[in-house]
Amino acid sequence: MSVAGSPAVGYLDAAATAPLRPEARAAMLAVLEGGQANASSVHSPGFRARELVEGARARIARAVGATPGEVIFTSGGTEANSLAIVGLALARPRGRHIVTTAIEHSSVLESCRYLERVFGFELTVLPVDADGLVDQGAAAQAIRPDTTLVSVGLANGEIGTVQSLGELAARASGLGVTVHTDAVQAAAALPVSFGSGAPPGAAPDPSAWPGRSVDALTVASHKFGGPQGVGALIVRAHLPIEPIIHGGGQERGARSGTENVAGIAGFAAAVAALTGQIGSTALALMDSRDELIARLLAEVPGAALTGHASERLPGHASFTISGVSGESLLVALDTAGVAVSSGSACAAGKSEPSPVLLALGLSDELAQTAVRFSLAEPLAPATLDRIIQVLRAEVLRG
Ligand SMILES: Cc1ncc(COP(=O)(O)O)c(C=O)c1O
Repeated sequence: MSVAGSPAVGYLDAAATAPLRPEARAAMLAVLEGGQANASSVHSPGFRARELVEGARARIARAVGATPGEVIFTSGGTEANSLAIVGLALARPRGRHIVTTAIEHSSVLESCRYLERVFGFELTVLPVDADGLVDQGAAAQAIRPDTTLVSVGLANGEIGTVQSLGELAARASGLGVTVHTDAVQAAAALPVSFGSGAPPGAAPDPSAWPGRSVDALTVASHKFGGPQGVGALIVRAHLPIEPIIHGGGQERGARSGTENVAGIAGFAAAVAALTGQIGSTALALMDSRDELIARLLAEVPGAALTGHASERLPGHASFTISGVSGESLLVALDTAGVAVSSGSACAAGKSEPSPVLLALGLSDELAQTAVRFSLAEPLAPATLDRIIQVLRAEVLRG
């Protein structure tokens, strides 16, 4: 597999951005080469652009058991999370209290902190255990009469842990609290349903389906083979939402701005390619992941798994390797032609330890030794051997 502008490498950073699927590329090229037009224009090219956007909306809605009117296109996961948190909390006058967790993506946590800072909201940030699982009982108790929103991610990109949202979401929803889940990482590998039934190809973990008790769900196209810079907030049609981007009133007034027609077409093509394959892909990735985990723990001194051993994303393996800096591991692997991350790509470039790893109870020092492998396809045996070789050499070098 190769990434743009670089030689063929073992690309093991799908959790940052997955390789573009050929179906998505073809759909985007068809739009770009067919002559782009504004989907709001009142002429034939504009009508065709509108048709593409609405076709994509219907396809994405069908894949997650939503209705087309529930899909709001955004510029990606960050914007969809911001719209969910800020837009839903400001539009709903139940109270000024939000519940979230210590391991949410920064786009969730920073949106909550924005509401705290500017609008006087109160925040309950739920702790997680050493595996990254939220205590369901503590979470349920955190809900108060003035709680407006609960936002808990379905799967964590840094440590791979998959939450069982069912109990918390059902309780919050039963009390009239709006429930949002960031499904950006989960949607690439697990069946994610906004409806009451199991999605097609449902496996391997039924408890991961957010289902009817979730009111809003975030997805981002580039995490499963669509283009970067496009995503969606899927939100129940009856819920009021305060826009965070103001203008011409596109996307049922919730997100103004000319639609990214080519990006949206690529997003829908990636969704179509993913749907139906998800169970078999997950099983193949799990085999590779488990082999990578087993060999790394057995053959690399000081290696420890981060995140849950079994409740984790199928292609995700993350570790700390005591005594070696994560950055130097990254460079050594990159030099050997293997692309990985030390934490989330969004946090890359920062030298502070990851707040997610600290929330698990890791020391600053150990958190700085993190390395993450995230697979879009099963690992070639030679790549696995190479990884082990490079890591062992780095540990020996100290
Ligand atoms: C769980 C999660 N949420 C949100 C995002 C942000 O998505 P985007 O990169 O499309 O803005 C990411 C990206 O890494 C993520 O992993």
